[in-house]
Amino acid sequence: MPLQRTLSIIKPDAVKKQLIGTILQRFEQSHFTIVAAKMMFLSREQAEGFYAEHEGRDFYEPLIEFMTSGPIMVQVLEGEDVIPAYRELIGKTDPTQAAAGTIRADFAESTRYNAVHGSDSPESAAQEIAFFFTDDEICPATN
Ligand code: TYD
Ligand code: MG
Repeated sequence: MPLQRTLSIIKPDAVKKQLIGTILQRFEQSHFTIVAAKMMFLSREQAEGFYAEHEGRDFYEPLIEFMTSGPIMVQVLEGEDVIPAYRELIGKTDPTQAAAGTIRADFAESTRYNAVHGSDSPESAAQEIAFFFTDDEICPATN
């Protein structure tokens, strides 16, 4: 199993509901190591840049509005196969389709207000981590 890093976001809906601690606890219970983390309030430019792949889709504009509606917490998580493992832990984009016990099944209100983001491939993880963090902001894992 390869040691990977993924970019995780706790979105504005989950921050507003004071779910940061609960969600980080699930990451640690899954043996993901938090190697970087910070609170941010995305500008429109940052949100558009981050979600550029979805530009032109009908959900794009509301997605940008939502992601700029309040603070988020971005993290880099490290672990064996953490990219697919994280996607498994959060569940499908639409919470009504997400497996029981996943973060989105438990905390997402809708496909738009769905609590968390996770990179979907090694290529997107590398790009998304570099979008938010410099190398010296990422701490080497100790376990
Ligand atoms: P996507 O990358 O398809 O989902 P995921 O977050 O699971 O990787 O879409 C990015 C975000 O765009 C998604 O988390 C919520 C929003 N979105 C909608 O609001 N409606 C939709 O129909 C889709 C596909 C996504
Ligand atoms: Mg995605």
